[in-house]
Amino acid sequence: MANYTNEMLESMKKVEAARAVNVTLDPRRMTAEEKDTLLKTYHPDYKEGQFTNLAIGPNKGEKVPLELAAILQANPRINPEKIDLSNPDYDVDVLIIGGGGAGASAAIEANNGGANVMIVTKLRMGDANTMMAEGGIQAADKPNDSPAQHFLDAFGGGHFAAKKELVYKLVTEAPEAIQWLNNLGVEFDKAPDGTMITTHGGGTSRKRMHAAKDYSGAEIMRTLRDEVLNRGIPVVDFTAAIELIKDDKGAVAGAVLLNMETEEILIAKAKTVIIATGGAGRMHYQGFPTSNHYGATADGLVLGYRAGAKLLYPDTLQYHPTGAAFPEQIFGALVTEKVRSLGAMLINVDGEAFMNPLETRDVSAASIIRECSDHGKGVHTPEGVGVWLDTPMIEIKGGEGTIEKRIPAMMRMFAKYDIDIRKEPILVYPTLHYQNGGIDIDTNCMSGVENLYVAGEAVGGIHGRNRLMGNSLLDIIVFGRNAGRNAAAKAKDVTVGKLNLDHVAAYQKEMEEAGIHSDIVSPKLLPDYRRQK
Ligand code: FUM
Repeated sequence: MANYTNEMLESMKKVEAARAVNVTLDPRRMTAEEKDTLLKTYHPDYKEGQFTNLAIGPNKGEKVPLELAAILQANPRINPEKIDLSNPDYDVDVLIIGGGGAGASAAIEANNGGANVMIVTKLRMGDANTMMAEGGIQAADKPNDSPAQHFLDAFGGGHFAAKKELVYKLVTEAPEAIQWLNNLGVEFDKAPDGTMITTHGGGTSRKRMHAAKDYSGAEIMRTLRDEVLNRGIPVVDFTAAIELIKDDKGAVAGAVLLNMETEEILIAKAKTVIIATGGAGRMHYQGFPTSNHYGATADGLVLGYRAGAKLLYPDTLQYHPTGAAFPEQIFGALVTEKVRSLGAMLINVDGEAFMNPLETRDVSAASIIRECSDHGKGVHTPEGVGVWLDTPMIEIKGGEGTIEKRIPAMMRMFAKYDIDIRKEPILVYPTLHYQNGGIDIDTNCMSGVENLYVAGEAVGGIHGRNRLMGNSLLDIIVFGRNAGRNAAAKAKDVTVGKLNLDHVAAYQKEMEEAGIHSDIVSPKLLPDYRRQK
């Protein structure tokens, strides 16, 4: 057994004593009014003092988190006047920045479109949030379901704020995305008759979550990476894009690259560019831990913003309700929503089931925060506070062996610390998980800047102000593929003019005129965990 405090052990006894009754409960869903009040009072997106209005750029006057403002209104890593653009190191049709699921999907389709495509990634291919995704990918491909139903769930779950045309694309192309992945070799969970096994996620009205146990993202990324490498698509790893390049017509025409090992500056010229740089968990907004990959530092938003691309909903983040709250070694790590889909309930310090476990994520996170703050019903841990996620209920509801079969990664993660989730509940608290907002795109995945495409978590507007589980693995495939196809097609008509970095110099001037003096350089590229003096 793990190193629990006496308070934790006392509370755990109450959870065990109440389990037989709790397991039979189906707590009612909150009303729209209750959710609204809850979110405004407890969700971090509404916390005063944590946001500021941007003073420059396309979103001037709009609200963003303090940490994002600090990197958007910061200094470039280069002096634009000292960069020689006359002799590019790479010259391609389509340049993809980012080696996660969106970048890989884009590369495969751009390659299908006959483009000379290249991926640059600051870490290695697959070092990305896609790899960390656990629970699954949504698609309405069962007889009792439909893309229309999926649309209603996603649009409503996002508080009716998403761009309808993007949600339409997401849900209507979802069944084909699953088939595409299946044909590429993704080992989805299937019943003996070959049909896909699907489960619920928070806020879904039908069981449409397709999974590969609880390492769905790793399995999808493995498959996509194999496909990219088998096709011989060049991947330049440990190489970050640190600035976009434009041509004399104002279109994006490449990127300035930084070799992360040698710090050499390289120039990539391209007819079209796709930003697929992922999310921002490593920005640790409001001091939250994160479930994200080490490279999730909002780089794409910085690159795009400096080049003139507008952001949509940059003030909204997703805090996954169930980050690990104990033990310390896995603090903030993702405990997949699938744990709740399979029947585990959220229980407070007194052994009470305090909410329906399949409310949408923002509502669940806010409810846990309320339970641990104003309600005073959290369980104190050596690192903070949390509530129980009663995992043994899964074995009661689904039969012995369900945990090992359906969520083996969870079982292994906790077993390393002597916690057997089949027998003991686990402690959870919200963790920074997803960037709901990002760069505004049209249905062709083009940003407001000519020849600059965006796919994956760097996009804003697909999920509105809250994303449902499994719609992110879906959007990286749907929009990744679309971005690749469209960028390749567009590249056929592009003649690149004279390269320049005038927009970087202009942005610096705008900062100066606004009286912004920052000692921060961006894009951030990697988090800094060195101990502060
Ligand atoms: O809970 C999870 O497995 C996360 C899935 C997602 O963010 O879509």
